[in-house]
Amino acid sequence: MATNNELLLDVQNLETQFRTEEGILRAVDRVSFHLNKGETLGIVGESGCGKSITAKSLMNLVPQPRGKIVGGKIMYYGRNEPMDISSYHHNSSEMRAIRGNEISMIFQEPMTSLNPVFTVGNQLMEAVMLHQKVGKREARQRAVEMLAKVGISTPEKRIERFPHEFSGGMRQRAMIAMALSCNPHLLIADEPTTALDVTVEAQILNLMQDLQDDMGMAIIMITHDLGVIAGIATRVVVMYAGWVVEMATTEEIFYSPKHPYTKALLQSIPKIGSRQRLLSIPGTVPDLNNLERGWCYFAPRCSQAMDVCRQQEPPLFDDDGGHVVKCWLWDKEYADQRNDDEQQAAEPSTAADELTK
Ligand SMILES: Nc1ncnc2c1ncn2[C@@H]1O[C@H](COP(=O)(O)OP(=O)(O)O)[C@@H](O)[C@H]1O
Ligand SMILES: [Mg+2]
Repeated sequence: MATNNELLLDVQNLETQFRTEEGILRAVDRVSFHLNKGETLGIVGESGCGKSITAKSLMNLVPQPRGKIVGGKIMYYGRNEPMDISSYHHNSSEMRAIRGNEISMIFQEPMTSLNPVFTVGNQLMEAVMLHQKVGKREARQRAVEMLAKVGISTPEKRIERFPHEFSGGMRQRAMIAMALSCNPHLLIADEPTTALDVTVEAQILNLMQDLQDDMGMAIIMITHDLGVIAGIATRVVVMYAGWVVEMATTEEIFYSPKHPYTKALLQSIPKIGSRQRLLSIPGTVPDLNNLERGWCYFAPRCSQAMDVCRQQEPPLFDDDGGHVVKCWLWDKEYADQRNDDEQQAAEPSTAADELTK
């Protein structure tokens, strides 16, 4: 992986909210993380934890009119001058120049972003012509090359097809081709393989890695499945109910997770090749509508919750090496409460074994 240590994106205390009938919904609540050029960062968490709204905030595409970035900064260093993406209007010329040019995004369900009434080729050509000053003929040639690059065979023929004539995996490949047509600095992939079966998922993830090696862009890989990012991300951000609850290198997340939520997520990864049922985390993500601050939102589902967890919001504890955790157990005062069973952390599928016995 062509990771260097040059900063590409620095998100500081990002807050994105929705106005709802009930009041305020804090979808992204004081989220901070950074990303280096060429790096792959994973963002994981269950559905409803704020992953997509974080991604949309980075693109300055928060759903209007109810959604709004209300605090923090999104410093982008992909240009000569650093810029704060959050300070621009979503429809400004600056944002339009960045979106789909320097930062592009692929979504979970390609049918929602591919237009069913145009051929795949037409849509690819349009993407090419939007970013590059080329004529139709040349754009067509590039579109064919791009389809070949993402592993679609007989691209000259396939280019005439409509999205519904593609399989799910092929559509996702076409989406990737489209997202990469501008040669972006950053590719945000929001659950790009969730709708695919595991074999195709592995192929798409491999493809993304090959393309990254080739083109050198940074990737933010968003998923609810820690298994997906195991082999590809260098660092992982774990989100819960709009918060970053843990952030560390992928290795630390897998072998020395600190947050009880991260540990629970690890236990819900099925063993490779097994047909075991997923062990899901008991309970659900809280409704973020009008959620009062001043406690740990994970406490109701946490097997290690203490009184303090129901009374005060946990601060972020940093080990000075970049491993960050938002959990009272990592306060010196409560260190003795940590029944840190490493066994459990290192063997994520033990509990699943138990369940299926
Ligand atoms: N357009 C919207 N209007 C109101 N609330 C929204 C909207 N989109 C998302 N939300 C809320 O924001 C929170 C985070 O959503 P999202 O980022 O989509 O979660 P994830 O991608 O992790 O599943 C959820 O509580 C969701 O209900
Ligand atoms: Mg989502």
